[in-house]
Amino acid sequence: MSHPTELSLTDHEPETETFLRDVLRGLRLTPKELPCKYFYDEAGSALFDRICALPEYYPTRTELSIMERHAPEIAETLGEDVLLVEYGSGSSAKTRVLLDHLIKPAGYVPVDISREHLLASTEALKLRHPEIEMLPVCADFTEPFEVPTPSRADRHRVLYFPGSTLGNFTRGRAITLLSQMAEACAPDGSCLIGIDRVKDVDVLVAAYDDAAGVTAAFNKNLLVRINQELGGDLDLDAFRHEARWNVEEARIEMYLVSTRRQTARIGGEEIAFEAGEDICTEHSHKYTPEGFAEMARAAGLEVTRSWTDPADWFSVQMLRIA
Ligand code: AVI
Repeated sequence: MSHPTELSLTDHEPETETFLRDVLRGLRLTPKELPCKYFYDEAGSALFDRICALPEYYPTRTELSIMERHAPEIAETLGEDVLLVEYGSGSSAKTRVLLDHLIKPAGYVPVDISREHLLASTEALKLRHPEIEMLPVCADFTEPFEVPTPSRADRHRVLYFPGSTLGNFTRGRAITLLSQMAEACAPDGSCLIGIDRVKDVDVLVAAYDDAAGVTAAFNKNLLVRINQELGGDLDLDAFRHEARWNVEEARIEMYLVSTRRQTARIGGEEIAFEAGEDICTEHSHKYTPEGFAEMARAAGLEVTRSWTDPADWFSVQMLRIA
């Protein structure tokens, strides 16, 4: 793919050996699991964009509607000359709305694990905002990485983490990530975080098991990647997608379920599956306002403002160091 706009990319895309190591480690566990960050190669990112447009998948359009309604006030609260650092920037639709309203931003640093997707979406934003310096970083944002310095000094950093991606981390890891974000925006920056709310189970399950089967294809893309990139021989037709609500943990859990007893070879290793055995591929936690505020406090952050939609299905939270 060619990239006409000149962007200075910082590239830390994970290596194949790391992918293989993580896959084998997860598949040797009981119960089996695979890290959800590997959903997002080029095909997976394109499938995720399709999920975001599905009628059942309410989070994207709900968060976008909150941003469209409140972006002027959010931008005003953030102030002038901010350096906006976005974690897991994806297709950046909500960012466009925020950038349209930010007051003289010093720069924009989108951070994403999928290099082609990152470059394509940053270029689209650059065309719309040629005056904003854009410094994309291809990285796993859960690992330490250096934030590039814009040529015009910023007054404070804003860590933008939309899409309720925080919900894809278990509580302990979410607190660690929030602490890293607090450190990265210290001493006087802020975090702006989109979170999905607890709601009716049927609405939640349908959002992760859509009628058109796009989420199933997104989930199975993990197996496609293992076969293509790690020389695996997984039988794609012998796994089915499932989404379950775990009420105690307040989270949707996605699984790939082996439909028969089988053995696969990955990277020269044999992995056995029982009939009906699960591979857990993703957790997507949903929050109450109190639960989220309590988790933020554990990371040294306090919620200073929050914006929501009329049904209270989603909310955008602003946090500062407590
Ligand atoms: C990226 N993340 C917030 C999505 C979610 O809703 O947990 C990923 C996703 N998985 C299935 N559908 C969407």
